Amino acid sequence: MSKTLQAIRGMNDILPAQTPAWRYLESTFATLLDGYGYSEIRLPIVEYTELFARGIGEGTDVVDKEMYTFLDRNEESLTLRPEGTAGCVRAVLEHGLNGAGQVQKLWYTGPMFRYEKPQKGRYRQFHQIGVEVFNLNGPDIDAELIALTARLWQQLGLRDAVTLQLNSLGSSEARGRYREALVDYLQARFEQLDEDSQRRLDTNPLRILDSKNAQTQALLVDAPMLADYLDKESQAHFDGLRARLDALGIAYQINPKLVRGLDYYGRTVFEWVTDKLGAQGTVCAGGRYDGLVSQFGGKPTPAVGFAMGIERLVLLLETLELLPPQPQGQADLYFCTFGEPAELAALRLSETLREALPGTRLWLNNGAGSFKSQFKKADKSGARFALVLGEDELARGVVACKPLRGQGEQQTLALDDLAGQLAALLNEI
Ligand code: HAM
Repeated sequence: MSKTLQAIRGMNDILPAQTPAWRYLESTFATLLDGYGYSEIRLPIVEYTELFARGIGEGTDVVDKEMYTFLDRNEESLTLRPEGTAGCVRAVLEHGLNGAGQVQKLWYTGPMFRYEKPQKGRYRQFHQIGVEVFNLNGPDIDAELIALTARLWQQLGLRDAVTLQLNSLGSSEARGRYREALVDYLQARFEQLDEDSQRRLDTNPLRILDSKNAQTQALLVDAPMLADYLDKESQAHFDGLRARLDALGIAYQINPKLVRGLDYYGRTVFEWVTDKLGAQGTVCAGGRYDGLVSQFGGKPTPAVGFAMGIERLVLLLETLELLPPQPQGQADLYFCTFGEPAELAALRLSETLREALPGTRLWLNNGAGSFKSQFKKADKSGARFALVLGEDELARGVVACKPLRGQGEQQTLALDDLAGQLAALLNEI
């Protein structure tokens, strides 16, 4: 017997019962971004591997351990995108969207792929909604991005469920000086570091700061602090951002150990975290990456952005029971037909009604069936009215309209102006 086919571990089907929550989240976000003046960009899911290796950085977990990389038939190394920023920067550059200092405020959504160990809130195919802004270098745009996410939490009812963590990574020179000091400090204590941190000391020492290992964390208590190495401009930028968040009344915690797992960040980094989802509590994360465009060969172009994990937000909304009831999958009218001539007439009538009453959810019975079985389906559809067309009605040029939710008596509706009569009935509360 052949083995039952299954989806790949960590890659989930999003079933009809779950899609309304996704649509709710995506449409809330799209409307919000529209209001702030952001435009959608759609990007390929597969890119040349080099894009991510150069953009996200060798030595990061994402590039070293988590990418889905393969050779195509032309022996080119391609990778399923593990995130959206690198591809967005590539597209902006490729199409000259950042030319002449032009400001771009972009957003995207779609699947991302990382070979991580699957657990609640962490998957191998997951979905992000991301925002990237180009050619604005002041702290005002960092504040706008954070304000926009705060407004989303407000709209979703999540305001009290998430907190904002903030840090500044400074300029690359400042980070370089800090890296040296940190490596010196940790090198002298090498034997006491956990294995992962020992490896990172060479490849990505700043990531040691957010190690989960208790002994490593204890060692870090007296380690040099990034905040003490900040350059003047980055400090002023950070102060500017804080002043704006204060003015907006957006609370934050400064987390000096927040360094993020992707190499392109400098200056502002932030994460929105919740304690309601267990270990995978970061629902939205981002920061400034002023160096990435020039690293890809473009003109220096300041940039800042963030991405949020849709699965985690849906989980959070489910956990807190904040999903509004969704009308999707419910009918307004259910059309029952008896006998082939009536079925044909109802088929035509249904299309006429759909034309005349756009937005009305009209379900035509499929597969014939007895009176009882059709009415059972009509009831299950959630429709307010069943329309009935049989031989008798057809001969009289009428349709019977039976209320299914206890609103009044059955009525006989003449075929001429059926749409008008139904519209009136549907508009009655
Ligand atoms: P990131 O922190 O790697 O940043 O991912 C952003 C968000 O995606 C996370 O906070 C989390 O909600 C979600 N996420 C990440 N990995 C997984 C996973 N395996 N399963 C479920 N959800 C996940 C970025 O990707 C940057 N590109 C964000 C950015 C945009 N920075 C600047 N612009």
